[in-house]
Amino acid sequence: MNFLNPLKNRSVLLGITGGVAAYKSVELARRLYDEEASVVTIMTEASRHFITPLSLEVASRNRVYTSLWEDPLAHIRLPKEADITVIAPATANLIAKFSQGIADDLLSTCLLSCSSKKVIIAPAMNWRMYENPAVQRNLSQLTSQGVILVGPEQGSLACGEEGTGRMAGVPEIIDAIRSALTKKDLVGERIVVTAGPTREYLDPVRFISNRSSGKMGYALAAAARDRGAVVTLISGPTSLQPPAGVRYIPVETAAAMFAAVTGETARAATMLVMAAAVADFSPETRAETKLGKKDMPQLKLRMTDDIIAAVASSPGRPFIVGFAAETGRDLDRARQKMRDKQMDMIVFNDVAEPGAGFDVDTNRVVIIDRSGEQGTELMSKNSVAHAIFDRVREIKA
Ligand SMILES: Cc1cc2nc3c(=O)[nH]c(=O)nc-3n(C[C@H](O)[C@H](O)[C@H](O)COP(=O)(O)O)c2cc1C
Repeated sequence: MNFLNPLKNRSVLLGITGGVAAYKSVELARRLYDEEASVVTIMTEASRHFITPLSLEVASRNRVYTSLWEDPLAHIRLPKEADITVIAPATANLIAKFSQGIADDLLSTCLLSCSSKKVIIAPAMNWRMYENPAVQRNLSQLTSQGVILVGPEQGSLACGEEGTGRMAGVPEIIDAIRSALTKKDLVGERIVVTAGPTREYLDPVRFISNRSSGKMGYALAAAARDRGAVVTLISGPTSLQPPAGVRYIPVETAAAMFAAVTGETARAATMLVMAAAVADFSPETRAETKLGKKDMPQLKLRMTDDIIAAVASSPGRPFIVGFAAETGRDLDRARQKMRDKQMDMIVFNDVAEPGAGFDVDTNRVVIIDRSGEQGTELMSKNSVAHAIFDRVREIKA
């Protein structure tokens, strides 16, 4: 596997400014450390009214800078050494200084020697401040220079008011960093990803479904987006938030999934990744009203329409990646399924294995294609998603 966690061994320059959300940056630093990134922190004077350098030093296990004068070359060296600079939280003051090129402390001076495309800012402030035309103008200026903006979000603010101004959550900021550091090798691909279970109704309140959480499919959609693809995510019901920057089509039944996938792949899709656990069987009839105890049905099932078969036989068919979730290491069945359904690749996983399959954040898979097989270790679903696209790239090269 040539896949690398995009955060591993990367150097993040974390700037912290004087807002109440500064306390969240301690968790951000810790999460980055856990992802094996190296984090160097710069704190403004105002930020030190909210949190201490010591907290950041402990969270990042690394040096924290607080002054332009403590190390004479830090303002040039730190941006040069960083793969990415992240300002979280970013105050209205820092945003104004950055957009105007003011350099009156270590953080603002460092920002003048960073490439804009490698700077992420996570603004956080009261909604009135955020809506102020000066702040909006400064943010537009920065985004037009290529600075990446995460949030702010809508919700209850530290001042007790409601509105837009909350700093983006730590997972969203990590996601933005990961995305900015990921190689863009899927530019030009139009990828349809399916995820989650389907529901096959017996009556208006009861359905047959399965244990798919959708996590693998959502990780695939986010990974493809990060690598530069145009992504459509067609998902059965899950409790997950669709990844930002992805076209999202919610569906419920296998029939709705069939219609959405065949419709979307016909729109010049270059790849279909079928991570959804689509029901193979559906009740023959669906009662119009809720069945009472006395109406206990004799469950008669019929096969649902085969989505992959339909896409595989369509003119100009996309590259097709299927999934085989088995209970046990029945690789032969997966190999056979790939051939029978004319897939280009099938991803086998044994859902009975601890840490793999349903509802967990990790997976261990075997990636099978026409020319070989590769097993992965047990790793995050995000890493598995990248491993799958790495292999797709090798095959398509
Ligand atoms: C209690 C308190 C909370 C503050 N919260 C914020 C905030 O969330 N966002 C913001 O832009 N400014 C906030 N400010 C104002 C900034 O701290 C102030 O503009 C400061 O000069 C920012 O300096 P810096 O950008 O160098 O960190 C707050 C001030 C106080 C006293």
